[in-house]
Amino acid sequence: MPPKRPYPNGWFAVCLSAELRPGTVLRRRLMGEEVVVYRTASGVVRAVGAYCPHLGAHLGYGGAVEGDCIVCPFHKFAYDGSGQCVRTGYGTPPSPKLKLATREVREVDGIVVVWHHTLGTPPDWELPQSVPEELWPRFNHTYTLVDTPQDIYENAFDLGHFEPVHHTKIADYDYSMDGNKVSFAVDFVPVDIRLFGLMSSLHLHFDSEMYGLGFVHSQISVPRFDTVFQTWALPTPIDPHHSEFRVPLSIDRINGRKKVPNWLIGLIGRVALVAFGTDLTRDFPVWQNKTYVERPHLAKGDGPIYKFRRWADQFYTEDTLGSSARGEREEPGSRNGSAEALGAGSRGGGVERS
Ligand code: FES
Ligand SMILES: [Fe+2]
Repeated sequence: MPPKRPYPNGWFAVCLSAELRPGTVLRRRLMGEEVVVYRTASGVVRAVGAYCPHLGAHLGYGGAVEGDCIVCPFHKFAYDGSGQCVRTGYGTPPSPKLKLATREVREVDGIVVVWHHTLGTPPDWELPQSVPEELWPRFNHTYTLVDTPQDIYENAFDLGHFEPVHHTKIADYDYSMDGNKVSFAVDFVPVDIRLFGLMSSLHLHFDSEMYGLGFVHSQISVPRFDTVFQTWALPTPIDPHHSEFRVPLSIDRINGRKKVPNWLIGLIGRVALVAFGTDLTRDFPVWQNKTYVERPHLAKGDGPIYKFRRWADQFYTEDTLGSSARGEREEPGSRNGSAEALGAGSRGGGVERS
């Protein structure tokens, strides 16, 4: 089976800041490559290629942070923040040619993100901070899925699936696209919450921003209880077919109160993680077994799927897109005339036809 989509370009989560204390070294897969993420003693986060350029040891298996450097377990060669080898384990000078590959890395909202571009070009856009440090996520679940970020994010535009899969009606849906960002405001009315039958009249309001195909931040409000959660949805391709999907969460306020005892935060955070996770995992059997229909024939009620796909195209290197996708971009008006009429801020249930 060919991959559903090529690797997208952009920022992709590799861990939460909370997982990366000074001195910690983590192993990650990112778009088929081995990456090592570490934090120096002074708190700087770095991401580097996993393999030591000396004789190839994997720095994620026994590599250690020493001051500003990461030190290889095999012969104790040390690499600084630029990737330069600054000393060997023998006290002899290293070759100036000995350089470890480095990756662009940022900490945004308490999430460590690494830049990926198919052509190896440096970042041409940045992720903004959405929440202050006290609202950095404290709870997280990471799923490993057979799926791609674009397929996962298409869910937010696939208005027709909410009732059959999530037992939820969309009462209101607004979105706008601006460069690499999509903003949403969505009101969900549960038709049937199976996990919490008692709370079946709960309405949820989402205010979300999607930046590229690796980072969504959402503020989820439960108006009936004046309770607000901050959540993120962070798919990261690890190989052509699989993504790690992090869904971290923090609690903004409970019943109108910002200052809440720690035990209550812990309790509600865990309950919310289970509740959101129960809803989210309803998608997984579909996601993991579906194919990517390049030119779907949509019906009234489907939502602005073509609009999303045209927006998503900007995150791929042209050569990696299939020929039919290139054709679609060249002549969108001929097939998606009614989709064009669905402008920014359009309501759910709009017509898109191919
Ligand atoms: S392989 Fe890393 S120091 Fe030799
Ligand atoms: Fe869904």
